Order: sequence, then C-alpha cells, then structure tokens
Amino acid sequence: MIIYAVKDYEEMSRKAAAVMAALVVSKPNAVLGLATGSTPVGMYGKLVEWYKNGDLDFSQVSSVNLDEYKGLSGDNDQSYRYFMNTNLFDHINIDKARTNVPNGLAEDAAQACEEYNEIIRSMGGVDMQLLGIGGNGHIGFNEPSDVFEKETHVVDLTESTILANARFFESMDQVPKQAITMGIKNIMDARKILLVATGEGKADALYKSLFGPITPKVPASILQLHSDVVVVADEAALSLIKEKGLL
Ligand code: F6R
Repeated sequence: MIIYAVKDYEEMSRKAAAVMAALVVSKPNAVLGLATGSTPVGMYGKLVEWYKNGDLDFSQVSSVNLDEYKGLSGDNDQSYRYFMNTNLFDHINIDKARTNVPNGLAEDAAQACEEYNEIIRSMGGVDMQLLGIGGNGHIGFNEPSDVFEKETHVVDLTESTILANARFFESMDQVPKQAITMGIKNIMDARKILLVATGEGKADALYKSLFGPITPKVPASILQLHSDVVVVADEAALSLIKEKGLL
C-alpha cells in the first residue's frame, strides 16, 4: 500500500488526479471505476483542466461508477449520473456511451444489478477504482454490516441518510430510500484502488480501515487484502494515524 500524505484538499486533488492521469496516459483505453461525493470534485476539476490543456485524452477511456440512487433518473440533479456529467463527463472528450452508472430507474432492480456485474465483466474488469470513504468506513453504499456483500446489490438507505438527503427534495416521498451499489467483490476485483480522503471527519475511519481489524463492520478495512492500493489523504484525515505513530 502506498500512502501519499498531503497538506490539504487542494494537494489531495492534484495528487489523486495525477495518479489517475498516469494510468490514462500509459493505458489510453483504461477502464476507470469512478465515485461521486464531495471528496473527488477537486480531483475531477484537475482532470478537466489537464484535458483542456491538451495533456489528457479520454477518447478511448471507459468508466463504471460505484453507485446510484434507486428511483432517480439521470437528469435529476441529485442523481449520481447527473453529478458525473456535470463534474467530469461534460467537460472532457469521453464517449458517454462508454460511461456506466447503475440504472436507478430499472423496473427489475435485481436484474439491473446482474446486468451491471455483466457490464463490468464485459469491459474486462476495472483498471483503477476510485473510492471515497464514509465517516463510518463505508465504500460505495456498502455500509457497516455483519457480512461483506459481494456484487452489485440494492441497499436500503439508513434513516439518517434519508433525512440528510431530504433537504435536496421538495417532499419526503421524492427522497430516495434505496440505492444500487457495486459490492465488495466488484471493488476488490479492480486491478488498482485509489482511495481519497480529506478532513478530520475521516480520521477515525481511515485509521480503522488501514490499520484496524479486517471486518465488515468497517467495510473499507477489506482494502488491506488488496495488493495494489494507493491512498491520497490530507493531514487532517491522517491525523489519527500519525498520532498513533503509524506514519
Ligand atoms: C460515492 C460513494 C460514497 C462516498 C462517501 C464519501 O459514489 O460511493 O461511498 O465516496 O460517502 O463521500 P464524501 O466524499 O462526500 O465525503
């Protein structure tokens, strides 16, 4: 495992973008596993900037995203498809037909999950999976649990997540109650993992994930079993690890 300890959000964004850019330069038809959330926004901004400067070409790149809310269409501004379009895809020369986000509107969600696994397999697997981390150690929508869920599956969102999301919707019944997420096996199958973390709110989860026992109670702890993980984290996110003398 490589841990890049950087100063702040800006440096994290630049370093993480550099790790992904290095792959795109060395393998122009790379399959990127992508994530949403606030952590990678700056990193996506850097990739856009370097594309606009002429340093990156995404014309042969494909992508698969980790997760999507069930019940939201891609043009809903709360959907993860919308997030990816507006933060990255609309600003680079990636072929949108080669970008995949789970279908939140599928009538048969179980079938949609199976199809998503099949899409990942048919692409030849993921070269680099980008991950943010939840304050509780979640990755994708794989929340702390008694078991590691293997492949793409439907999850019930916790009451606190539903309430936290409520402010973005006009009424409570529009707030998604479920999501579709890649499972732990899908994530672990990626040839390389790029984990990004910023801020003190991630310090405990990062310490437990990288140095604690491997347990589904801290889903990201499974990454200790992956043979090619790059972590890019800022001082605040690494504060507990440093305090314990582990870095
Ligand atoms: C996003 C995702 C989530 C986030 C995590 C951290 O696709 O799967 O696991 O990576 O919740 O979110 P932020 O970056 O907003 O702190």
